[in-house]
Amino acid sequence: MRQLVTGGAGFIGSNYVRHVLAHTDHRVTVVDKLTYAGNRASLAGLPDDRLMFVQGDVCDAPLVGDLVADHDLVVHFAAESHNDNSLRDPSPFLQTNLVGTYTLLEAVRAHDVRYHHISTDEVYGDLELDDPARFTESTPYNPSSPYSATKAGSDLLVRAWVRSFGVRATISNCSNNYGPFQHVEKFIPRQITNVLDGGRPKLYGAGANVRDWIHADDHSAAVLAIVERGQLGETYLIGADGERDNRQVVETILTLLGRPADDFDHVNDRAGHDLRYAIDWSKLRDELGWRPRYADFGEGLAATIGWYRANADWWRPQKAATEAKYAEAGQ
Ligand code: NAD
Ligand code: DAU
Repeated sequence: MRQLVTGGAGFIGSNYVRHVLAHTDHRVTVVDKLTYAGNRASLAGLPDDRLMFVQGDVCDAPLVGDLVADHDLVVHFAAESHNDNSLRDPSPFLQTNLVGTYTLLEAVRAHDVRYHHISTDEVYGDLELDDPARFTESTPYNPSSPYSATKAGSDLLVRAWVRSFGVRATISNCSNNYGPFQHVEKFIPRQITNVLDGGRPKLYGAGANVRDWIHADDHSAAVLAIVERGQLGETYLIGADGERDNRQVVETILTLLGRPADDFDHVNDRAGHDLRYAIDWSKLRDELGWRPRYADFGEGLAATIGWYRANADWWRPQKAATEAKYAEAGQ
């Protein structure tokens, strides 16, 4: 099996490549534009004989066509992924998330290659804090931000290419990931590295917003299960019962790092900030037998803190510029 992994130098893509190389005998080609979010160092130490890296843009149709023609499967992670950036400048989100997905769909259609589309629970909008409901595969789409709107649009393109052109595709919508190799702009690594730098975590608004955390390695295992055993044309939600409000997460990080649990700042809230995400992942469990391995969020978080402590060379070059952008927004 030859897999073409787009965005494989990003956070989840690189964790997925590591997972595939460790758990299968597949060969992997990564195609990645290396935007500010991509880092070759996230793929360091992986076996050269089974991993090839191509720097390129998923919107580049001739390149994408040539690469797709040489593979049995495309797993499409590449995206502009950060909500706050999409509020500052939506334009690269429309280009990469919509045009990039369209470009890949046309290539897998032309070459009849199996396609798996990586998406997010944010396409469903948000839930009230006191609502016991969780998202399911049949929850109506209702995205809030430019980021989630472009991801929703990309999912709908996939569904249309399946129905109209018979493209052999599956979609997964996953909740918030944490783990190693996540860019310091994102919530958990931002707070860990703030504390490691002697600063304070920054909580948007009151910190009551809830996210449903899953370790990136559990996400990878779920995607592999779907590409190996999923039913064509189907959507699978991926989650791990990890609901926590942001304040709880910050308090846990502070405690794990030996600081008082209230040693954080409240900063400006995000415009249109989604209140709560929660995933019902029973379809994945019942149909494919998948289960998360990281059942204890505290343990997974402690291991992630250990990784950032040991890998300052990886995150340090991005930290100052990232914080400067947040400071401009009062965050
Ligand atoms: P990331 O920002 O860490 O990585 C994105 C990668 O895509 C980077 O390596 C970047 O260089 C590459 N890229 C961007 N534009 C490109 C282009 N035009 N051509 C080729 N490569 C390009 O993102 P992530 O957090 O790893 O997210 C990966 C995927 O998973 C995205 O599709 C995202 O929507 C989805 N997702 C993320 C989460 C999460 O919690 N982070 C949860 C659910 C789904
Ligand atoms: O749900 C899946 C989504 O999770 C993915 O589709 C996105 O790609 C990914 O970025 C993530 O989106 P969020 O917006 O939920 O993640 P983020 O890490 O930006 O923020 C998590 C929560 O923490 C959110 O409620 C905003 C809040 N926050 C974030 C930052 C950066 C803070 O309170 N302080 C911060 O400094």
